[in-house]
Amino acid sequence: MSQPYELRTQYWNDPVAKASFKQFAMDIFGLDFSDWDKAGFWDEAFTAFSYFDGDEVVANTCLYLLPAIINGRKTQLAQISTVGTRADLRRQGMNRELTEIALDWAKGKQDGVFLFSDEDAVPFYERIGFSPQEEFLEVIDAKPVTSREGAIKLDPQSDLAKIHDYAQNRVPISNKLSIGNEKLTMFHALYFLRDLIYEIPELDCFVACKRSEERLKIFDIVGKQIPSWKELHPFIADAGDREVEFHFHTDKLGLSAVRQIPLKGNLPFVWNTFPVKTPVFPYTSRA
Ligand SMILES: CC(C)(COP(=O)(O)OP(=O)(O)OC[C@H]1O[C@@H](n2cnc3c(N)ncnc32)[C@H](O)[C@@H]1OP(=O)(O)O)[C@@H](O)C(=O)NCCC(=O)NCCS
Repeated sequence: MSQPYELRTQYWNDPVAKASFKQFAMDIFGLDFSDWDKAGFWDEAFTAFSYFDGDEVVANTCLYLLPAIINGRKTQLAQISTVGTRADLRRQGMNRELTEIALDWAKGKQDGVFLFSDEDAVPFYERIGFSPQEEFLEVIDAKPVTSREGAIKLDPQSDLAKIHDYAQNRVPISNKLSIGNEKLTMFHALYFLRDLIYEIPELDCFVACKRSEERLKIFDIVGKQIPSWKELHPFIADAGDREVEFHFHTDKLGLSAVRQIPLKGNLPFVWNTFPVKTPVFPYTSRA
């Protein structure tokens, strides 16, 4: 069906093919992988399955194998991402084929496959057999605490080595569901969390967080140990905070009265079933 296009995978060692992949990601999603690549965090485990027309990627599905902890057990999960077909070649079955090939390749290598869809791509994922998955946040009321000095804002450019050191040596954020991939953590540090990283040397970690509308949002805690909330909160507290939301399972933070609330908008989908029943997908697990 996909003649005259050439199926290629594991081609990151071919600079021309890799450049074409990056251009494709720019054209379809406006996503520029250059900063991640230049900083040296491009990841072999991020595996592309692409149709090429000569040197040009015309359709692509990536499957990212990610080391994970699920209910205390070490395993791997697979995330599908960077899914696209050049506009003039859509609805010809190319991406169905690529996704089937990628899933086939990942058989026996993972305990669950997930992805986050764009609104427009929902019918496509439903059509090719993925199921919508409910996703949650964990929320607590913000109790007043006495603030402490000592959180230092980090800059992903000048503090890159320090951030990387934390990412490399991090312990899992949760025993229930965590994804441990330093290169993906660095992707987030360089892109979505670039202005939100605060080192707390006293606790040997950094925290990625921001506040809006009386809500403190915690995206990740990266360090050689996970501090308890009691230890961490004073460094990032603000008297105006009413609630704190966590974008990961908080089982290691020593919290009580945690509410799980549905998170809308990321449109997660899974292949078959996902091994965690009410998942809080760690924010930094998104590829
Ligand atoms: C979504 C996208 C990747 C689909 O690629 P494609 O190569 O056209 O998909 P296929 O031709 O393999 O389609 C597979 C099935 O999904 C259906 N499908 C594809 N796009 C659809 C859409 N927008 N609405 C409804 N059904 C759709 C096809 O009809 C086909 O069904 P069938 O096999 O029963 O006939 C492509 O439209 C695209 O690149 N969109 C822009 C980028 C994007 O949104 N990517 C996803 C980001 S999460």
